[in-house]
Amino acid sequence: MRYADTLRGQFPGLDPEADDLFLLEAHQVAQLPDRAPDRELAAVLHARPRLRRFLVARCPPIEEFLRRIAAEHGPVGPDELAACEDELMWEIADWVVYQRAPDRLDVEPDEAHDPCWTAISDVAAGHGVDLHDQVVVDAGAGTGRLTFLAAPTARHVFAVEPVAALRRHVRERAARQGIGNVFVLDGCLDQIPLPAATADVLMTRQAIGWRLDAELREVERVTKVDGLAIHLLGMPAPAPPGDELDPVLSAHGYRPGTYDERGVVRRLYVRRFGR
Ligand SMILES: C[S@@+](CC[C@H](N)C(=O)[O-])C[C@H]1O[C@@H](n2cnc3c(N)ncnc32)[C@H](O)[C@@H]1O
Repeated sequence: MRYADTLRGQFPGLDPEADDLFLLEAHQVAQLPDRAPDRELAAVLHARPRLRRFLVARCPPIEEFLRRIAAEHGPVGPDELAACEDELMWEIADWVVYQRAPDRLDVEPDEAHDPCWTAISDVAAGHGVDLHDQVVVDAGAGTGRLTFLAAPTARHVFAVEPVAALRRHVRERAARQGIGNVFVLDGCLDQIPLPAATADVLMTRQAIGWRLDAELREVERVTKVDGLAIHLLGMPAPAPPGDELDPVLSAHGYRPGTYDERGVVRRLYVRRFGR
């Protein structure tokens, strides 16, 4: 299934439109080559010259990519343009939700029943790590699903998230709920804004993989000797033939595992450092 179709099912009634591209933040613009279909994006760029200027101003290195796809794919007529806009915007509809309605992604913390938190707790326990009073890093924290599950028992939780709208959302939620041990930081997995050897436990959920090798090196830097890194992936288990993530994670000393998210068995990876 194409990602656009998954997102259509996930966010009924969203109606993302091309004007939403003006909400994108720099690091999202940088990821457009990986996320946006070339032909559809080119069609929209031909129809909206201001958009091209906006995207380049947000993230100057994108210029070369935009120039290339515009040269490869010419302008289209009005009907096709509408179809291209629709397809493009649904491919990146999660970004539209981050900007317009992050509360649609909120999950009420439920330590007893959240399958992702159960997975983190079980993996930690399996490595002899008690999550109480630990310094926890949730990298690619989104709306803070894991952050708010870790907070009740952690000493501190650092929620690292590149999207400003999501950082604001986590800060506001922590303030509203009187949670004082959550600290929200602007950063990416390949540049985590924390000193070396900060985290007892570093966790991610559906956030690694854009620059995996650099991300895993950064995770190693930030995690303490004897600390634990746990990555929950979105993809169902087992890894498909030719999977690109597994060999890189193995080369970095991670062990594969699985967890059950409401009937779907998904992949996870864990590494205990210094052991
Ligand atoms: C699918 S969401 C998952 C959010 C959260 N971990 C959760 O479980 O709900 C992916 C998150 O990773 C963030 N993200 C994307 N690229 C990233 C990067 N290079 N480094 C860190 N976070 C990133 C996105 O902004 C988004 O918040």
